[in-house]
Amino acid sequence: MSDFLGKFEDRLRQREPRYDQLETVEKMVIAANEIRALVTNNVLGPMGPLGKPAVRVLYSATNELAWRVHDKTGLYDKINPHTLAFLEDLRAFKADYALDDNASVLYAGSGFDTSVRIVFPDTLHLDAKKPRKMPSGYNFVQTPVQNIPLGDSSVDLVVFRHMEVTQFKDPRVAEEVKRVLTPEGKVALMGLRRAVFNALDHGMERVQVYPNELSIYQKQ
Ligand SMILES: C[S@@+](CC[C@H](N)C(=O)[O-])C[C@H]1O[C@@H](n2cnc3c(N)ncnc32)[C@H](O)[C@@H]1O
Repeated sequence: MSDFLGKFEDRLRQREPRYDQLETVEKMVIAANEIRALVTNNVLGPMGPLGKPAVRVLYSATNELAWRVHDKTGLYDKINPHTLAFLEDLRAFKADYALDDNASVLYAGSGFDTSVRIVFPDTLHLDAKKPRKMPSGYNFVQTPVQNIPLGDSSVDLVVFRHMEVTQFKDPRVAEEVKRVLTPEGKVALMGLRRAVFNALDHGMERVQVYPNELSIYQKQ
């Protein structure tokens, strides 16, 4: 039995290189995911027409469970390679600029991405749309970034990640971001196309780029 479990764990390590660094409950989710894939491929898949609805039921029930674990532990932020690279840069930025956990951070266009709060626990999330799934303890405000409900010079860092170029064409975006930033405040851009940088370049200058391409801007 222990031989079988050992082999199964080796399989999980191959799937998830950070397996050994995870909490027990997180390891259980990785294991459950693997078992689900095995059941889908080897049992339900070969069942033919009956198999498809069974797979749908299995996934809708277990996705909800996985979401709850994610909410409690931040599991997917810990294993998602793209998020990991982003967080590595964000940690380096935090150290370089001596920001602490109390830094006032605004994540604009956050959707339900919770990764920034791993580095800056006090992050305020902002989005024009209310995400369907809201993690608990998620400090969120629904408003367009053109209208940030915060005072002048009150934010140390505004983070944007994976936004569309068109969302930056409105000059009120840059104006509003500049309004809320403290004199030393910065803007962090990640996963954005060149045109976005150009749109923000009016009145902002790029001061640093981190290895995974997190770009830091500040007011000129
Ligand atoms: C592609 S998603 C990225 C979500 C998240 N930043 C991430 O990296 O996973 C873009 C998000 O920007 C939001 N958004 C678009 N225009 C916006 C605006 N003017 N103000 C605030 N949020 C906006 C959308 O609702 C959406 O949630």
